[in-house]
Amino acid sequence: MAGALDVSENLMSLSHFSENDSVKTVLARRSWGSSRIPRDFDVEAIMFVVLGAVSERALQRIFPSLQRLYESFLIDQTKSVFVAVGLDNFKTDVFRVFLEERLPPSSKRREFVNKFTYVRADCTKGTELSKLPPSSGDRTLFFYSLPPSIRQDAVMRALNETPLMNSWTRLVLQGSDPQTYNVRDSTFLLSEEKLFRIDPFAGSDATRRLVALRFGNRILEPTWNRNHVRSVLFDFSLDVSASKAYPDETFLRDVFVDHIFSLIALVAMERPASRFGDDVRDAKAEVLKAIQTAKPERMVLGRSSINNHSHPTSTFATVVFDIDTNRWRGVPFICRVGKNMDRTRSEVKLLFRTAAGADALWRDQGAALKENELRIRVFPSESATLDLVSNVPGLDTQLKNQRSTLDFLSQAAPYVPDPFERLIYDAMRGRRANFVRKDALLEAFRAIEPALAHATSTTVVHLYSVGDRTGPLASDDLISRTVTGGSGPSSPSLSSLSAAASSSSPLKATSPQMQSIQTHVMHHHHRDCPWLANTDIGSEVWSHATDFSAAREMQLSLRLNFDQMRLLLLAFVREMDAGIKSRNKSECAEAPTIKMLETFVTKLPNGTEEGSFYGLDLGGTNFRVVRFELVRGQAAKKVQEVSYRIPDDCKHGSTSDVLFDFTADCVAQVAGGKGDDDGSSPAVFGFTFSFPTLQETLSTGRLITWTKGWTTHGVVNEEISGLFKAALVRKGIRGEVAALINDTVGTLAARARDNHDVRVGVILGTGTNAAFQDPSTGSVVNTEWGGFGSFYKVPALPMNVVDREIDKESPNPQEQLFEKMISGYYLGEICRRWLWRLYEAKELWQSATIRDDVAIGVRDAFSFDSRFTSDVEMDLSEGLDLIRDIEERVLGVAGSSVMDRLMVREVCRAVVERAARLTACAIAAVVHRINLPGTVVAVDGSLFEAHASFKQRLVRALDLLECHCALVLSKDGSGLGAALVAAAASRKD
Ligand code: GLC
Repeated sequence: MAGALDVSENLMSLSHFSENDSVKTVLARRSWGSSRIPRDFDVEAIMFVVLGAVSERALQRIFPSLQRLYESFLIDQTKSVFVAVGLDNFKTDVFRVFLEERLPPSSKRREFVNKFTYVRADCTKGTELSKLPPSSGDRTLFFYSLPPSIRQDAVMRALNETPLMNSWTRLVLQGSDPQTYNVRDSTFLLSEEKLFRIDPFAGSDATRRLVALRFGNRILEPTWNRNHVRSVLFDFSLDVSASKAYPDETFLRDVFVDHIFSLIALVAMERPASRFGDDVRDAKAEVLKAIQTAKPERMVLGRSSINNHSHPTSTFATVVFDIDTNRWRGVPFICRVGKNMDRTRSEVKLLFRTAAGADALWRDQGAALKENELRIRVFPSESATLDLVSNVPGLDTQLKNQRSTLDFLSQAAPYVPDPFERLIYDAMRGRRANFVRKDALLEAFRAIEPALAHATSTTVVHLYSVGDRTGPLASDDLISRTVTGGSGPSSPSLSSLSAAASSSSPLKATSPQMQSIQTHVMHHHHRDCPWLANTDIGSEVWSHATDFSAAREMQLSLRLNFDQMRLLLLAFVREMDAGIKSRNKSECAEAPTIKMLETFVTKLPNGTEEGSFYGLDLGGTNFRVVRFELVRGQAAKKVQEVSYRIPDDCKHGSTSDVLFDFTADCVAQVAGGKGDDDGSSPAVFGFTFSFPTLQETLSTGRLITWTKGWTTHGVVNEEISGLFKAALVRKGIRGEVAALINDTVGTLAARARDNHDVRVGVILGTGTNAAFQDPSTGSVVNTEWGGFGSFYKVPALPMNVVDREIDKESPNPQEQLFEKMISGYYLGEICRRWLWRLYEAKELWQSATIRDDVAIGVRDAFSFDSRFTSDVEMDLSEGLDLIRDIEERVLGVAGSSVMDRLMVREVCRAVVERAARLTACAIAAVVHRINLPGTVVAVDGSLFEAHASFKQRLVRALDLLECHCALVLSKDGSGLGAALVAAAASRKD
């Protein structure tokens, strides 16, 4: 029967009816939850044949969908025939039990499974398929669910030979095999009108929803193009259990070809002539022709660590496509597809450009001004959200992105059919609009083919952990770069990597980069840096060594993905807030881990300073005394400088007198017993003391605690300028300390003199820390961010087993945890410990000799200085000769293999990459707190200035967080900065 019934009609008591058509209609209408049941509602007898009956796909998707349709009376219950075909040796009654156990319970489950006949047959042979029982009518619907090893063209040929083949016969096909369409003689294939190629992930609802949203809304239709849309992201993932139904070998192909391209076509197509049949399919095929073929440099392939076969294929891919039409030229279509992820979902996100002129209107709001984002969830639950920029209620203007939800489910009926069920129903009815046509399929193959070929042949595959949310870091990077409009890849492609690797002399190869490191403003230098070949740690090595578990542990323990970075950034913002509040004890019960110390520096140098000033620098490897002449409006002139290595006993174990007498002796070399040149007035010192100090005035302060491994007695809680002055007196030197500052403050001051946008000073050297000028008070704050996470108070700080070991054995356990993961004092030691762990796990240096006749080697703590991490990374020579040299000279390891050396390089890369990412989170948090456009960050320290890759990694990580501050090198922040702060303090304004 056919008809259309209003749901507002009385819901009659079903008990009054026998099982006739009216009852079926009411039930069907109820279960499909539509206000009108399908117009062409019609239950005809059909024979359903499932080819590949015991496959996961059949068991998870086909049988349950048929069961629901059967129970909803959308399949004729009395006349339809059900056949399951497979190679297993089942008797029909055993198969029925097997199937019943796997289907969802329902009152009609047994009745449904008992309809099935099992036939053992090879589906590639027409003679065997002829064993199928005869159909009760003339309608046979085949379901194709055979493994990828079986050729589809062979099956089609066999089906053509069965007596069941007639003008109605249809094949519902999931997962198309390109070989089928390349066969020379295609006359044996099923004709196009018989094929119902399914996009298994999108039922007609999602499709209709997209079409309705796009073409039915006045606010969306005119903005759906390159003038308004910045990028489109397709995000598809399957969790571990859903992944089982998709063999690795065909996973990427199936999802891209069947699903992603279907969605791309719906998002990108021009308006079809009608909503029906071939009009939609024409529009889809047309736009797919304009998709540019995937390029290797715009894709990242990944493999989940569960996937551990000898020749594993990729289980993850991010690919960026361009569509060459007037509507879309220049808009990246980014597709991220992965299995074994943290969840099952498919989503499309359109990111719109910021409204014209909005930047100017809300200049003060900086990053708060976000783009509109339309997010359409295709499954598991269909929904859509739209982010609109709005204002938070309150006294001040504060922009916020407000999310509005279009909740389709709550508007829908109690039961919404599974997409697969809808598609089967459509195939039964012969409705083709939602099935993939051959021309679209061939375009999809063409566009994705190079990526798929790469996925099976390449060895550079980035690992990601099972249950990950976004896949390998390299994918995050590609997406973020593409969305923020970076041109080209930041990690060089395979070819540029091997070109760099084959250059004969590592030093020759790297010297231009070393020069560029001196460049001050750091924007996008990283794009060509060969050391950044792999953001995903160890991928080159571990793709060969899939069963190295300690190596894998290292790789996973050191990785910091985008989501973790965002969490860290938020935690930083929170801890900084708590630090400020703790100044007023009543507002903060617990000690914060970022101290946010007052510096009493309210005047930064402005270029009008004049006179002769000394900068003293205590807190790194050397103690330095530098004298500057300052002339109004001119660059500071360094007239004298001495630098002395601080003896170990001054830093550890001795007393304050020994330390400060040493500093006074050094000062005597420059300042002698006199003051300035004519000897009439005492020398004026700006003293940089690079430890957490509780300032009492600009020129006095007490050491709160030692950091960076120092332990000298009698200094903690003492007033530092007083200790220094007492030593000067002991040596007969006249002088006054005009300013006692932290090195970060000096770094800030040294560059702020000629650039007023410099608002932050950062040290990335032996230790790490930052200071910034608080725009609300004008005063400079010494954050002491090295303490972030101390006492394990911030769970977002991802400390691993090696970090914990280092902390435990340090003189200040549980303190300065952030610094211990980043700074030059610790980086080398982190690497050394991981190397040692790999060696003990028998995954490194197995045929090498660990020499015990060397004074100090890989067994000894702190034997591997951080600067070696840079040297190791610089080695791009074929034989990794520089690394071998370092192994021999520094670590006492002789006879390593090239594979060993590659691993050593990966360890260093991993440790440095993490440090750079952590640093980026901290800088982004400070910049966020200042919240002024154009903020420039001045940086000093060997890690930033001299490390082969750190700076580039840092810039890239900041890009990832969309923190668009400029970084400038502040050379000699501690010496010059201290002299300048002292000079600025004496200014008369
Ligand atoms: C340590 C000190 C800090 C200093 C930093 C860089 O973190 O605590 O005061 O700024 O090292 O030298």
